[in-house]
Amino acid sequence: MTACGLKTVLAFGVTMCLAGTVHAWPERFEGHGGPVKSIALSADGSSALSSSFDYSAIVWQVGKDSAAVGQRLIGHEGPLNDGVLVGKDMAATVSDDGSVALWNLATGEMLDRVDEGEEKMIRVAASADGRFVASASWDRNAYVYGLAGNRLGRHAVLSGHRGPVNAVAFLPDGKRLITASYDGVIRLFDADSGELQREAYSHGWGVNVLAVLPDGDRVVFGAADGEAGVISLARGEIVKILPKHERPVLSVALSSDLSALAIGDGAGVIRFYSVDGFALEEEFQNPYGPVWGLAISPDNKTVFYAGLDDSVKSWQVTPRAPFEPVENDFPRRFQVSETADPGELQFARKCSVCHTLTPDGANRAGPTLYGVFGRKVGSLPGYPYSNALRTADFVWSEKTISDLFDYGPDVVTPGSKMPLQRLRTEADRDALIAFLKRATAPGPDRRSSQERNEVVK
Ligand code: HEC
Repeated sequence: MTACGLKTVLAFGVTMCLAGTVHAWPERFEGHGGPVKSIALSADGSSALSSSFDYSAIVWQVGKDSAAVGQRLIGHEGPLNDGVLVGKDMAATVSDDGSVALWNLATGEMLDRVDEGEEKMIRVAASADGRFVASASWDRNAYVYGLAGNRLGRHAVLSGHRGPVNAVAFLPDGKRLITASYDGVIRLFDADSGELQREAYSHGWGVNVLAVLPDGDRVVFGAADGEAGVISLARGEIVKILPKHERPVLSVALSSDLSALAIGDGAGVIRFYSVDGFALEEEFQNPYGPVWGLAISPDNKTVFYAGLDDSVKSWQVTPRAPFEPVENDFPRRFQVSETADPGELQFARKCSVCHTLTPDGANRAGPTLYGVFGRKVGSLPGYPYSNALRTADFVWSEKTISDLFDYGPDVVTPGSKMPLQRLRTEADRDALIAFLKRATAPGPDRRSSQERNEVVK
């Protein structure tokens, strides 16, 4: 990517860059071992937070042209769904494991974690004054936590939703917040008492995402039916309908100066608007599938998007960069050809998002399965197993791995953090195991996971 945004033409057609006109943002943030669910940038763009399916979040140091891994936040027991920066030195994340966690950005230490139960926590927000963190849960509640020192104190439960809660956002005053639910309603709550003030708007279809505009009245929403628009909380009605998406709206981001807006959907479409008048300025098609996370650079010229791929990528909105990223490195593990061996297909579809087959685990959520046959359960050095696996006492063999997927991890290794999966037919299990026996055998020709991915293509 060229850093030359503004050119001036000198005599005889010689062009020259006007120095310092465009800050070049990194093209990608590389470091996760699984799909990325959300991305957030600090107000000055110098740091970022990404939350991934690989059970971790990463704090990034964002420099000119490059993004370096600052800290890995490890400690959730399931895929992460969202993360938010809290003040200058903390972050909060939520996970499928039903918990919200608070982290120290500089050290990567988990400061506190509150478990609310079995259901996924899907979204997290912080009030601008840094007093509160709130989370949206599929248990039909949202939760407000007071930040006292380095702890999350349960402050209020926002109840009354008739479906899972998909989104939560504070109003600028930090005293009120809104939720969006699968039941189609956007509700307004008092942050201190947790009381429902009113059902501000009913869309009919599930509402997935919310963003509050600086006037504290207008709210951008996106819904499961592809509808996106702006409502007025005071008037309880739509004040602006945005172009409809063909697939569910999955993500929304406002720039730090609140003047630009990006909306992403399940088919990979990202639309970029100026908040003033909501004119559609640019549209982008992520060739790699759904857009789960979005963030806008402080200069409003670059959009960062997260999805199925392991890396967060950037789209340069202005000056408009060539549309299609040139090299296709869409996670190759999802693209195994239909003619591949049936066991390899099972692995690609059901396991590879969390496990590699090579000596390095590539930061995926599960341990590498390299050399798994004959290995004692829960014994790979350096991998943070659950207690259940660490203390279990058997050895992985054709039989025990087959049992794992015949009866399910919840039966064979109760308490394991591996999500429930079963391969129901014996043929599927046999094919997977035959493949695993070949592919996990330690040997001199094992390649790094990256090279391996290239071969799997
Ligand atoms: C969503 C992530 C995820 C998926 C998908 C997944 N696993 Fe796992 N797996 C894990 C995690 C996390 C652990 C560690 C569990 C623990 O510590 O309790 C694990 C542990 C294991 C272990 C035990 C390894 C050891 O060192 O003791 C085996 C074997 C295993 N997985 C095989 C598979 C196979 C085969 C598949 C596909 C059919 C699969 N897993 C799919 C996340 C996953």
